[in-house]
Amino acid sequence: KTSPRMREVMTSLTKHLHDFAREIELTVDEWTEGVALLNWAGQMSDDRRNEGQLVCDVVGLETLVDEITYKKASEATDLATQSAILGPFFQTDHKIRKKDESVVEKLPDDAEVAYVYGQVVDATTKKPVANASIDIWEASTNGLYEQQDEEQPKSNLCGKFYTDENGEYGLYCLRPTPYPIPYDGPAGKLLQLLDRHPYRPAHIHFIVLAEGYKPITTQIFDKTSKYLDDDSVFAVKDSLVVEFLPRDGDEKAKKQLNYNIHMAPL
Ligand code: DHB
Ligand code: FE
Repeated sequence: KTSPRMREVMTSLTKHLHDFAREIELTVDEWTEGVALLNWAGQMSDDRRNEGQLVCDVVGLETLVDEITYKKASEATDLATQSAILGPFFQTDHKIRKKDESVVEKLPDDAEVAYVYGQVVDATTKKPVANASIDIWEASTNGLYEQQDEEQPKSNLCGKFYTDENGEYGLYCLRPTPYPIPYDGPAGKLLQLLDRHPYRPAHIHFIVLAEGYKPITTQIFDKTSKYLDDDSVFAVKDSLVVEFLPRDGDEKAKKQLNYNIHMAPL
């Protein structure tokens, strides 16, 4: 089936590809290297690894389209929580968890546990949003998400929560740590070529959905993390940088983060 918009998109892409090849005077050998990289990315990709997305991400394309999409969506209000890229490690079937449950199924020795809590509110009226779903996922201290790591139990470090009647949510998770994106494939080769490191600053991913509101896909970043200024996939935004504080009187967590999420009405 043809969609007028996709026809427009592909026509424009073709035009720019031609302009690019003409401008840089691309040779057959160089183009062949590009084709090999595309094929390699395809061969590497499966349920656990989305190499095509990684390649786009290291050249900043996902962040750019995220910005364009957010700008389009935020014409009504700029008070909503800012978005950030989805990244390649979101799983659609997160385990549903109760308020204040922990996503940590296996605690690494070198990890710190944090209690993350707050309210989901209407960005314009600041009224609580009940029954909003919050998907969260994060990597372990070895830099791997559950689906990348045979040693992690199923559903480790991810889950889906719902806000209560006051719009409140709470959960225990690992305080995130920086880590390299997978760099043994084409994305890594590109980074090497450009003399860049593969690290991402410490972050937690969120998707927040509620009836009557625009969906939010975002990430929060630990203020004390390395690589905030040179994220390998360019996803950091100032408004998404948060501070984990010491937590007293809770044997389950030494750190805490109060984080409210502001949703734009549809
Ligand atoms: C990318 C994003 C992530 O959140 C991550 O953990 C690894 C890689 C990416 O955009 O490629
Ligand atoms: Fe990530």
